[in-house]
Amino acid sequence: MADLLPKDLLDGKVVFISGGGSGVNLAIARVCAEVGANIAICGRTEGTLLAAAEELESLGAQVSTSVADVRDSAAVTAAFADCAERLGPVDALVCGAAGNFLAPAEKISSNGFRAVMDIDLLGSFHCVSAAYEQLAATKGSVLFVSGGQSTNPYVHQAHVAAAKAGVDQLMRTLAVEWGARGVRSNSIIPGPVKGTEGMRRLVETADESVWTRQIPLGRFADGDEIGRMAAILLSPLGSYVNGSQVVIDGGMGIAGTGGYNQTVLDSVKKV
Ligand code: COA
Repeated sequence: MADLLPKDLLDGKVVFISGGGSGVNLAIARVCAEVGANIAICGRTEGTLLAAAEELESLGAQVSTSVADVRDSAAVTAAFADCAERLGPVDALVCGAAGNFLAPAEKISSNGFRAVMDIDLLGSFHCVSAAYEQLAATKGSVLFVSGGQSTNPYVHQAHVAAAKAGVDQLMRTLAVEWGARGVRSNSIIPGPVKGTEGMRRLVETADESVWTRQIPLGRFADGDEIGRMAAILLSPLGSYVNGSQVVIDGGMGIAGTGGYNQTVLDSVKKV
């Protein structure tokens, strides 16, 4: 569906995607590559990054990969230096690296809570911080991959809720602070996306149809549908969008989280 977008939408632009080796982040990378961008990805596992790079190169992109855990500020700084050297300064940054597991609040250890906060929130901060000079030079833009947990309460997601709410408020603050210097910041809230790790975990809890019934559009998203909106927001098509949380969830959030929450609670009772 990237063919719905102008083929040169991000022609020659450098898009850096943390966690870009898999899941929704890779879907964003694919669409950006299909509309002309060169792509830098970082993540924890070299094999995952190299497999993604091969696919993105087959779409015509030049690709830079860096093994970096976003919790490690020095590794993230090095990844942006590598990217600048190999592809040029970053025009667009997608803060996509995230960690998640389903657990009742009282069962989340201090370390478990911290792991998710450190990946999602502190890791996003490390990325924007390391990218700032490059983004200021290119008048680039930032896109955070947030989550419905940022605004709606989802059971067994206390850690993710805290982290994603922080991510969205970081986004809004940068929109004001860096927007004045020509750097836009926005976030997306994807609903469940087919074929991702997050979706696999949900389907382990209850059948796919249980989840799709809770989405007004009656189905999961294709990665492409998320990637397309991300590419629009990063491109000149989104030139006046700054400080927005863009929801791409088939209406799941506004339909309320009651059904979702009950399904998770029921599935735990059965165990
Ligand atoms: N329930 C409760 N606690 C859990 C858990 C679960 N299902 N999974 C991990 N934890 C806890 C661990 O027990 C540990 O706490 P402890 O030291 O008090 O025992 C803490 O979380 C850190 O776990 P660890 O596996 O050492 O951390 P990690 O840094 O290797 O992994 C996670 C980070 C936990 C976020 C892991 O789920 C991950 O790497 N996820 C990345 C992929 C992903 O989540 N994708 C989906 C994105 S939507």
